[in-house]
Amino acid sequence: MSGEISMIGSVILALFLAGYLGQQYLPPPKPKVIGLDLGTTFCSVGVFHPGSGDVEVIADEEGRKSIPSAVSFTATAVLAGHEAVDLADSNPQNTVYDGKRFIGKIFEAEVLEQESARYPFKVINNNGSAEFLLSTNHTFTVSPEFIASRLLLKMRKMAERRLDMRIQKAVISVPAEFDERQRNFTVRAANLAGLEILRVINEPTAAAMAYGLHKVDVFNVLVVDLGGGTLDVSLLNKQGGMFLTRAMAGNNKLGGQDFSQRLLQYTMERVQQEFGVPPALKEDIHRLRQAVEAAKLNLTLQPSVTIRVPLSLHIHDSSESARGAAPAPVLFQAVITRELFEELNEDLFEKILAPVETVLAEGRLDKADVDEIVLVGGSTRIPRIRRLISEYFGKDPNTSVDPDLAVVTGVAIQAGIMGGSWPLQVSAIEIPNRHLRKTNFS
Ligand SMILES: *[C@@H]1O[C@H](CO)[C@@H](O)[C@H](O)[C@H]1NC(C)=O
Ligand SMILES: *[C@@H]1O[C@H](CO)[C@@H](O)[C@H](O)[C@H]1NC(C)=O
Ligand SMILES: *[C@@H]1O[C@H](CO)[C@@H](O)[C@H](O)[C@H]1NC(C)=O
Ligand SMILES: *[C@@H]1O[C@H](CO)[C@@H](O)[C@H](O)[C@H]1NC(C)=O
Ligand SMILES: *[C@@H]1O[C@H](CO)[C@@H](O)[C@H](O)[C@H]1NC(C)=O
Repeated sequence: MSGEISMIGSVILALFLAGYLGQQYLPPPKPKVIGLDLGTTFCSVGVFHPGSGDVEVIADEEGRKSIPSAVSFTATAVLAGHEAVDLADSNPQNTVYDGKRFIGKIFEAEVLEQESARYPFKVINNNGSAEFLLSTNHTFTVSPEFIASRLLLKMRKMAERRLDMRIQKAVISVPAEFDERQRNFTVRAANLAGLEILRVINEPTAAAMAYGLHKVDVFNVLVVDLGGGTLDVSLLNKQGGMFLTRAMAGNNKLGGQDFSQRLLQYTMERVQQEFGVPPALKEDIHRLRQAVEAAKLNLTLQPSVTIRVPLSLHIHDSSESARGAAPAPVLFQAVITRELFEELNEDLFEKILAPVETVLAEGRLDKADVDEIVLVGGSTRIPRIRRLISEYFGKDPNTSVDPDLAVVTGVAIQAGIMGGSWPLQVSAIEIPNRHLRKTNFS
């Protein structure tokens, strides 16, 4: 009897071993679970390829990996991403962006009014929750989670097209500060897009995982996320493979837009000095804004750029009456050096350190005890900001992953783990920290 059992045991063991050894000769399985980064301004979707262990951030038909978080409604269609942005100018009241700022959140009536004043579309108060009032050939309302679901559906379609299979499962990231209700509504948005959510992970944890910090021996990780309009700093603590958010702080009025605005002010003053009048036409200001935005991006790689912007100015001329004269076309040119850009923004850049100091104080940690620093968000490409952080900590931050794709990369790794990746990965779990409050500077 016992001999039989041990024989059955040996057979099972042999089969198990054969299966284990055999699987390396089979084609690697396709990823079954996708990783979603539903950002305030951009969304991305990624997968972990079990065979190679590589993360792929999936691109759309035109090769773009970051999809704008905008949804536009017309009488005949609901468009998401770049197609929605293309309609933003002609259909501003029906093009919703920043929807994530409203999802699952209960607002005081006055706060919601202040918030909605910032947008060209109508935000209405439904018993404390935000809804968007739209008017195409009829008038209707949609919820923030419906907006999110259209973006997630687009992500799902991009993944299905790339992998050539149906996708029904996902892992999604949310800001560390999201409460249970905001997390629930984010999950509901994914469900509306036909996706089952296997896990919700915090964005800073995902960014740390993008650098493989769940697999190496580190204890304290500081994540600095500087996007277009907000700064979020999180202090993570890793205990036995599990991440715990120890402290959070930020500034919800600091980001790339502010740095561009300083450059725009400077060029407007230069125009005034050179031509005696400031640019006044909306189109001229729009062109200047686009030029300084491009210049800002170039200055992360080049020491200086020259901007050339055609303008139409009402230049005063003593020989004729300026009043009623047609605007004269001029070409405005300016050399903008990285040094000038840094001078114009130095006070803003230094504001980044305030929340860093707060999370260290709240986490009762000396800056020397921070093991790794992870940078997230496009604005962390600015060389002066990287230098500011390196100088403060006396060590270089982790920057090898594209800061716009760090979160989706980490979420895709988590999706790979949930999908039973092969070869097996170290798992990473988050310990929820329900008592955490975020300190905000602004
Ligand atoms: C609006 O247009 C769509 C598509 O043309 C049509 O299906 C729908 O019935 C129209 N609604 C109203 C209220 O006219
Ligand atoms: C409005 O919200 C409150 C609490 O958030 C709830 O108690 C109440 O039932 C809601 N009223 C309606 C009409 O949904
Ligand atoms: C979130 O969802 C869970 C599971 O569906 C539920 O038990 C919980 O009460 C929800 N919490 C909130 C705040 O909506
Ligand atoms: C920025 O760089 C790109 C290529 O590196 C170039 O095509 C573009 O003209 C530059 N823009 C400015 C404002 O210098
Ligand atoms: C970045 O992260 C990796 C862990 O994956 C680590 O080995 C490396 O030293 C880190 N630091 C820098 C400055 O790149």
